[in-house]
Amino acid sequence: MKTLRDLLDEGVSGRTVLVRSDLNVPIEDGAITDAGRIEASAPTLRALADAGARVIVAAHLGRPKGAPDRTLSLAPVAATLGEILGRTVELSEDVVGPSARSRSAALHNGEVLLLENVRFDARETSKSTDERAELADALVALTGSGGAFVSDGFGVVHRKQASVYDVAQRLPHYAGGLVSTEVDVLAKLTGGAEKPYAVVLGGSKVSDKLAVIEALAPKVDGLFIGGAMCFTFLAAQGHPVGDSLLQSEMIDTCKDLLERFGAKIYLPTDLVVAEAFSAATPVHTVAATEIPEGHMGLDVGPATVARFAEGLHTARTIFWNGPMGVFEMANFAGGTRGVAEAIIAATGDGAFSVVGGGDSAAAVRLLGLPEDGFSHISTGGGASLEYLEGKELPGLSVLET
Ligand code: 3PG
Ligand code: MG
Repeated sequence: MKTLRDLLDEGVSGRTVLVRSDLNVPIEDGAITDAGRIEASAPTLRALADAGARVIVAAHLGRPKGAPDRTLSLAPVAATLGEILGRTVELSEDVVGPSARSRSAALHNGEVLLLENVRFDARETSKSTDERAELADALVALTGSGGAFVSDGFGVVHRKQASVYDVAQRLPHYAGGLVSTEVDVLAKLTGGAEKPYAVVLGGSKVSDKLAVIEALAPKVDGLFIGGAMCFTFLAAQGHPVGDSLLQSEMIDTCKDLLERFGAKIYLPTDLVVAEAFSAATPVHTVAATEIPEGHMGLDVGPATVARFAEGLHTARTIFWNGPMGVFEMANFAGGTRGVAEAIIAATGDGAFSVVGGGDSAAAVRLLGLPEDGFSHISTGGGASLEYLEGKELPGLSVLET
């Protein structure tokens, strides 16, 4: 796989380089609430611009229905990217239309153009190779002669989409700095991780994490489970879960996992419960096996945090994906904060720790925890999970060709 370093060594001054970045950030009322992915994407873009490339960035925001949607414009992203890079970042009004074409042609060395949300074009996510090919050809045409493609959107490498996959088949292609780093880090978690190896999983659905549990459980020494997915495990053990989120169709699967890996699976021993899903509701801490009727578990309790922390304390490798509770509400943030702090402490003692992107990465920043307290915070939610599951990621394998 060729890397950004190879491209820079070839020389990019005066060349137009198309970069796929993952700038899919949470936005509320027009304001970016977590710019982590933009920050993480900046170094590759800066390196190219500094070396005199004319940089065109393709990125998506959310899941528009294959047509322009003003609420999913990349305009706030362009502004923030510009601030981070300390350069003007132009935004085209379309993906590969007249605006994108004229602005691309007008780029000078070192200038950066962001194309409007690439998913405004239905061909981006089309299942038809021919349809994706049309868009890929149009994206490639923006680069003129001497163009190159840098794949830097780690969070989308599990997607076989025009700007991720098909463009790489049409241009000399390179893994960007972010993709290279992510792959190096995740490779350490799949092969030969230093032991003890602890994996902390949370989030709402067992079904989302099933494949990663299957892939990692045989390799790890402790699997610590919090978040709403713990209720399906508690139900599998025969405990009442009240009104807690439950995936009843997964109970048998959880029974089977407990049978095979029970000795290394750690479930919560206490929970923070409430009668309503609300920041204002009164909360109680109860034993995990005794969730009262009419109550739902919304966070793991302090005894659980202490028990998980004890297990994490001696770990040499830690992977964490998924919050322990509804961390967005202060009354249910204690579990996520406590477990994150335990991972930070272990990292301070020399453990190699990785936060799998998505919600857990957002939690770290939202709770004001030090990002450098972890060895690596991934920008890929689904992509990092699929990598750890051992799946082939189209956006990575295409770079090998
Ligand atoms: C993400 O946020 O997970 C990535 O940006 C990919 O987005 P997607 O799940 O909509 O393809
Ligand atoms: Mg996703």
